[in-house]
Amino acid sequence: MLAKSERYSNVLIAIHWLTALLVVIAYLVSEGGRRVRLDPPLLHFATGMAVLVLVFARMIARAASGAPPPPASIAPRLARAAQLGHARLYALLIAGPLTGWYAASRLGVPSDLYGLRIPAIAAPVKGGIGPIGEIHQIGGNAILILAGVHAAIALWHQFLRRDRTLERMSPF
Ligand code: HEM
Ligand code: HEM
Repeated sequence: MLAKSERYSNVLIAIHWLTALLVVIAYLVSEGGRRVRLDPPLLHFATGMAVLVLVFARMIARAASGAPPPPASIAPRLARAAQLGHARLYALLIAGPLTGWYAASRLGVPSDLYGLRIPAIAAPVKGGIGPIGEIHQIGGNAILILAGVHAAIALWHQFLRRDRTLERMSPF
């Protein structure tokens, strides 16, 4: 097992995997077009909003506990590229849910889930909501694509390069 200083904190590891699970569920239960007004996908809203809450919790936890320094075997250029990729993921984890929240508000769809209401952040409109729905859809797809590339790189590190990168984020 890696030393504690070489791994992410337990809180960050828990948030990482919970976020991954919620993103996949949000994606699988997403709906678009007219169906959203007729039958709002409440599980999509709830899992997506949970991702947004968790990304802020994660930033606070990261600021408090920090991240382990890159392994010595990683070239500084590669470490910098990883940092950029992660920053992009963070940005999408914020922009994705925010644009969805805005789209849901414009659609004026009720968002009650177990008595919890998501407040509107924009005035509802009767007809089309403009490009925000498509922007959100592109954002949602982008999270999945980038996370897929990110997961493939993590597996490459672990099993081909054998530098134990996956163990840095492993709950075991
Ligand atoms: C990680 C979080 C999220 C992901 C990956 C995601 C992904 C997606 C995808 C792929 C679609 C298009 C579905 C289709 O056209 O079949 C969609 C639609 C939608 N999502 Fe999300 N979403 C997320 C968070 C949210 C949140 C937090 C809300 C609202 C509170 C939301 C509200 C909506 C709405 C209203 C639509 C329909 C937009 C339209 O067609 O006009 N999403 N989402
Ligand atoms: C939706 C899915 C995922 C998202 C949004 C995501 C997001 C992130 C982010 C933002 C970081 C940077 C953490 C930080 O420094 O604060 C990270 C690190 C990491 N992720 Fe993911 N991840 C996802 C899925 C996965 C999967 C499936 C794997 C493994 C196959 C994985 C393996 C890792 C590893 C090993 C690290 C640590 C990298 C390092 O030490 O620099 N992630 N992830």
